Amino acid sequence: MTQDELKALVGRAALAFVPDGAIVGVGTGSTVNHFIDALATRKDRIAGAVSSSEGSSARLRAHGIAVLDAQAVQRLPVYVDGADEIDGHGCMIKGGGAALTREKIVADLAERFVCIADQSKRVAVLGAFPLPVEVIPMAVAQITRRFAALGGTATLREGVRTDNGLPILDVRGLAIQDPPALETEINQWPGVVTVGIFARHRASLCLLGTAQGVQQIDF
Ligand code: 5RP
Repeated sequence: MTQDELKALVGRAALAFVPDGAIVGVGTGSTVNHFIDALATRKDRIAGAVSSSEGSSARLRAHGIAVLDAQAVQRLPVYVDGADEIDGHGCMIKGGGAALTREKIVADLAERFVCIADQSKRVAVLGAFPLPVEVIPMAVAQITRRFAALGGTATLREGVRTDNGLPILDVRGLAIQDPPALETEINQWPGVVTVGIFARHRASLCLLGTAQGVQQIDF
């Protein structure tokens, strides 16, 4: 199977975790696009979606699925999203699609985070994928120096602004041995809006697309 076929497989498999009548938290990316397309086949059985990006909102609406304002919702039973990397504890690097801030906000509303990913995303230690960090522009130089002190090289993602109108730094060269600790530390740096380490909002379970089929990993 191709990588895209594996993404489609787990996108469909995630439907099993969507309760009837639910408002569904919806992430961002090519794997989630498959989930949205699958969700459309049962749109009459959900109350709507809270979306983590303008891109996902547009795709949901194109399918006739109502997109609700996150602020109008107190709790979601489930949030379904992809990942750039996921480790053996359900900690993830996210933000390859520049939606990390809204993704973390919607994940925070959810009882359960269902990560959908093809097998290439499964890693022992986070950090081979460049770590995305959404930042306030005037803090870019200082945040870059702070990452250098940790052994990381931060570069601005050229030509990219998030849905919040902000730049993204991608940080290479980090081997993230303690994701919750590093997430907490980076969160303290002035000018950091969101770091793409999802440890405090890690996956509850992962549906991993493999050549043998969908592997469910519970954390
Ligand atoms: C977007 C994300 C995505 O979940 C992540 O980049 C994975 O994307 P894809 O499903 O296209 O491989 O965090 O900000």
